[in-house]
Amino acid sequence: MLRYALAVVAGLFLASTVTVVVADRNLDIPFPFNCSTKTLCSDLRIKLPNENEEYNAVYLGLTDGALNFNLSNKAGNELILFLGGIENNRFRVIVEEPDRHRYKLEHSLEKEPTTTPLTVDSVEDSAVTASDGNGNKAIVRLTPLSIEFYHNDVLESVFEGNRIIFQNTEDNQDFTFSVRFVDADRLLGLHEHAADLALKHTVDLRTDPYRLRNTDYGTTRYDLNSTESMYGSVPVIYGFGANTSGIFVHNAAEMFIDIDNNRKSAYFMVNGGTLDVFFLLGPSLKESVRQYIDLTGKPHLPQIWALGYHQCRWAYNTTEDVKDTIGNFDKYEFPLDVLWLDIEYTSERRWFTWNATSFPDPVDLLNWVDSQGHRKLVPISDPHIKIDLNYSIYTDLLNNSYFVNSPNGSAFESECWPGETSWIDYLNPGARDYYANLHLYSNFPSTPALGGFWNDMNEPTLFDNLYERSLPYDTLHYGNVKHRDVHNIYGLLQTLSTHQGLIARDEGKLRPFILSRSYFAGSQRYANKWSGDNWGYFEDLRYSVPMALTSNLVGVAFYGADIPGFFGTATEELLIKWYQIGIWLPFFRAHAALGSPRREPFRFPNETQVILRETIGLRYKHLPYWYTLFYEHTRTGDPIVRPLLYEYPEDKTGYDLTDELLIGSDILAASVYESNATSVSVYFPGKDQSWYQVTGDSPVVFESGNFSDVPVDLTFTPVFYRSGSIITRKPNVQRSTADIKDDPNELHVVPDKNGNATGRVYIDDFESFNYVNEKQYLYANLDYDSASKSVKVTSIDSDSDSSNFTLSVQTVYLYNKKDDGTYSVDKIDQTKDGVPLVDIDLSTHSLLL
Ligand SMILES: *[C@@H]1O[C@H](CO)[C@@H](O)[C@H](O)[C@H]1NC(C)=O
Ligand SMILES: *[C@@H]1O[C@H](CO)[C@@H](O)[C@H](O)[C@H]1NC(C)=O
Ligand SMILES: *[C@@H]1O[C@H](CO)[C@@H](O)[C@H](O)[C@H]1NC(C)=O
Ligand SMILES: *[C@@H]1O[C@H](CO)[C@@H](O)[C@H](O)[C@H]1NC(C)=O
Ligand SMILES: *[C@@H]1O[C@H](CO)[C@@H](O)[C@H](O)[C@H]1NC(C)=O
Ligand SMILES: *[C@@H]1O[C@H](CO)[C@@H](O)[C@H](O)[C@H]1NC(C)=O
Ligand SMILES: *[C@@H]1O[C@H](CO)[C@@H](O)[C@H](O)[C@H]1NC(C)=O
Ligand SMILES: *[C@@H]1O[C@H](CO)[C@@H](O)[C@H](O)[C@H]1NC(C)=O
Ligand SMILES: *[C@@H]1O[C@H](CO)[C@@H](O)[C@H](O)[C@H]1NC(C)=O
Ligand SMILES: *[C@@H]1O[C@H](CO)[C@@H](O)[C@H](O)[C@H]1NC(C)=O
Ligand SMILES: *[C@@H]1O[C@H](CO)[C@@H](O)[C@H](O)[C@H]1NC(C)=O
Ligand SMILES: *[C@@H]1O[C@H](CO)[C@@H](O)[C@H](O)[C@H]1NC(C)=O
Repeated sequence: MLRYALAVVAGLFLASTVTVVVADRNLDIPFPFNCSTKTLCSDLRIKLPNENEEYNAVYLGLTDGALNFNLSNKAGNELILFLGGIENNRFRVIVEEPDRHRYKLEHSLEKEPTTTPLTVDSVEDSAVTASDGNGNKAIVRLTPLSIEFYHNDVLESVFEGNRIIFQNTEDNQDFTFSVRFVDADRLLGLHEHAADLALKHTVDLRTDPYRLRNTDYGTTRYDLNSTESMYGSVPVIYGFGANTSGIFVHNAAEMFIDIDNNRKSAYFMVNGGTLDVFFLLGPSLKESVRQYIDLTGKPHLPQIWALGYHQCRWAYNTTEDVKDTIGNFDKYEFPLDVLWLDIEYTSERRWFTWNATSFPDPVDLLNWVDSQGHRKLVPISDPHIKIDLNYSIYTDLLNNSYFVNSPNGSAFESECWPGETSWIDYLNPGARDYYANLHLYSNFPSTPALGGFWNDMNEPTLFDNLYERSLPYDTLHYGNVKHRDVHNIYGLLQTLSTHQGLIARDEGKLRPFILSRSYFAGSQRYANKWSGDNWGYFEDLRYSVPMALTSNLVGVAFYGADIPGFFGTATEELLIKWYQIGIWLPFFRAHAALGSPRREPFRFPNETQVILRETIGLRYKHLPYWYTLFYEHTRTGDPIVRPLLYEYPEDKTGYDLTDELLIGSDILAASVYESNATSVSVYFPGKDQSWYQVTGDSPVVFESGNFSDVPVDLTFTPVFYRSGSIITRKPNVQRSTADIKDDPNELHVVPDKNGNATGRVYIDDFESFNYVNEKQYLYANLDYDSASKSVKVTSIDSDSDSSNFTLSVQTVYLYNKKDDGTYSVDKIDQTKDGVPLVDIDLSTHSLLL
């Protein structure tokens, strides 16, 4: 009912403004679908193949270092199986019909993975054993089929042949398989769900299986603590334990996954495409994560402004509203990097157009925005195109057959924001090129102050419950590919094309910025992601943390949640608490729905403004720390924000504490998600280390291995520095990241029990690809030694002439733990008459305190 009422309100509003009535169709059809309403799941979930359906394997031999098998069962079905080695402790298993007619996924893997030839160790009647010479071994049991994967003789995972089912009719290519993680304590992964870190036990049938099917909920509130599908899909699971391994299911069709936490197994029910699974043998979680992201690719660095504060709402409607809003940020002294433009900036929701009345001179406006602290505007741009013969983008796409087609061969049509629309077929390389070109300055009047694009509604979404608000699975893409087989990669392809367009627009000089709601494995190469249309409740705040932690384990690192909940009217208390944790997620954006009151930080009473100013300022002060983490992520794929178990895999107490998050390894934040909380219980991980509280008024030190009740009030959320670390910060907050990026730095030295501390810092031009193409950057270790009382700066890997990038230090703060459990800070000024004493630009330099 709620949904219906809201849909009508939205419809009325649209009718009165842009003369199109957008109404959701078939609202009487229950939404979303689930296991009981989808045969893929309801039929296959409880099906264990009987003896006639179990597959037995016949070993055919080794081709190019990979093993081949025929599979057959007594029911007369035949399959073929390929088992190959991939460098760095990985195997790949592909199962398909001998005639190989299934869709093979493209665009998810960054490149063809480097194979490692396998050697066959033994061929017996019951089993074939092969290994890669690097401690990894596979034993293929033949009757019935199953494959055991070993790393250094520890059995890590089993591909369970007794759960293989292949449907193979014209309309039904469902298949199933199962994997057991033998040594696991917890199963993790399966982004995106509004749920805790550890996967739930679902096989008892009381909980639906996890579902991966990119879905927009419109004004329906998505369930929290739930296995239902969301906007993005990354089919990765880690079996976390003493020996951790993982799998990546290289398939973009809808899937349900039943989790058995007793056996530590995952049963996949997949709606089409090829059974293609990578086995990642770790053996640690850290290595498993790297093994995964190495397959689908690491992102490039964002420009530094993307790490600042983003202010969005539906909508800043006019040039005046944009200027007033930015002006008020300055008047009330709130930093801001980006103001976002929702659908109203267009002419009749025709993307790549401006509303001529409300944005009469976009280039002039963008020049003004740039003049206000090099700030940016980011507009929304969706993959559906208004059916309008007076809109050349529509006629061009139609004339070139660049739309997704109905089964009858004509462009598919349905409803979305502009009214009747068609959907761009990004599988078509010509359509991708055409779309990319629309981003050129010559095609869309703008300047580089239009910092990037917001690709929304790209699940893709349409307003019809019949197809569960997306394209019907029998619509057709380029090459006669059914939408069913590529549903989850549609959004990735849009961002790929947008990325190509931005590279071309700025002649390869500036790093593109794209925010996407739909996501698949590999999207991280092009776009970052937010958790979609959340609501203004404390529970939504609570789940924003574990969602960011899981996404960071599967390569979706630049992730955040809309502050303080997109829909609804968050209380002022919730808004404050949400900013206080939101600044510690990689993507930091506030947003508000059409019906939500205006709530930019300067609109609140003074005492609230004071808190928000301090909070947002903390984000800006930690800019060097964030930027270094983002850089390291581009090198390693390591998560930017991390669950405790990632850094402390042996500390079982921390396994399920998903309301605490580590930013890198040195900062711990504990979210507060209960109204009027006066204290929160925080677990301090590690051995022999201390955590220094840096928010609130009490300089308290907490010892590792304990839970402590940390007093809180409205003014702060608890944040701690780890002993043994050096945090690089900016001393001042100004209008934007551009205003402070070149300022001298502060080093916050928090010694460990031996008096030592270390950190790392990364500096470049903050915007270009010179750090990749010409290695123009400074990346250095910072080592504090209490004996010599000095910080040594040692280049890890930098430009040979790194004089272009210097670490200039204004102040060093030395944290001293006192006997009473508090600490003091010694300020060691590094400036004389306002001039920095030390500008460290050599590969090795000691800074004496
Ligand atoms: C699945 O959907 C049906 C129809 O909307 C609904 O009655 C049922 O409660 C749902 N099941 C679960 C587990 O959510
Ligand atoms: C393997 O399967 C293929 C295709 O079904 C068949 O042609 C071939 O004879 C089989 N080989 C063996 C050794 O069973
Ligand atoms: C989440 O759901 C699980 C059952 O799946 C339940 O045991 C748990 O208490 C729920 N958590 C919260 C915070 O409601
Ligand atoms: C894997 O497990 C074995 C025992 O099962 C243990 O000895 C070994 O240390 C573990 N490996 C790692 C990397 O933790
Ligand atoms: C922006 O435009 C929409 C649609 O016309 C309207 O509902 C909304 O109130 C406007 N917002 C402001 C701040 O004027
Ligand atoms: C332009 O915006 C104004 C108000 O913001 C709105 O009334 C008008 O319908 C829009 N025009 C078009 C062509 O979208
Ligand atoms: C087509 O667009 C032009 C320019 O935007 C406008 O002047 C004209 O009225 C439009 N024609 C129709 C039929 O909408
Ligand atoms: C493109 O399509 C429009 C509308 O269908 C038509 O009027 C026009 O002639 C077509 N142009 C080309 C080059 O085919
Ligand atoms: C709030 O702060 C502004 C200046 O920032 C000041 O002019 C105003 O008097 C303050 N209002 C109250 C109620 O303190
Ligand atoms: C928190 O405190 C406020 C003000 O006293 C009160 O209105 C609100 O109901 C409290 N919230 C809860 C959840 O108790
Ligand atoms: C402290 O740092 C110094 C210099 O880096 C090193 O020689 C010493 O071993 C460190 N002490 C400990 C206990 O790690
Ligand atoms: C340093 O910057 C200048 C100006 O951008 C550039 O010309 C020069 O090539 C840079 N030096 C190095 C070593 O990259």
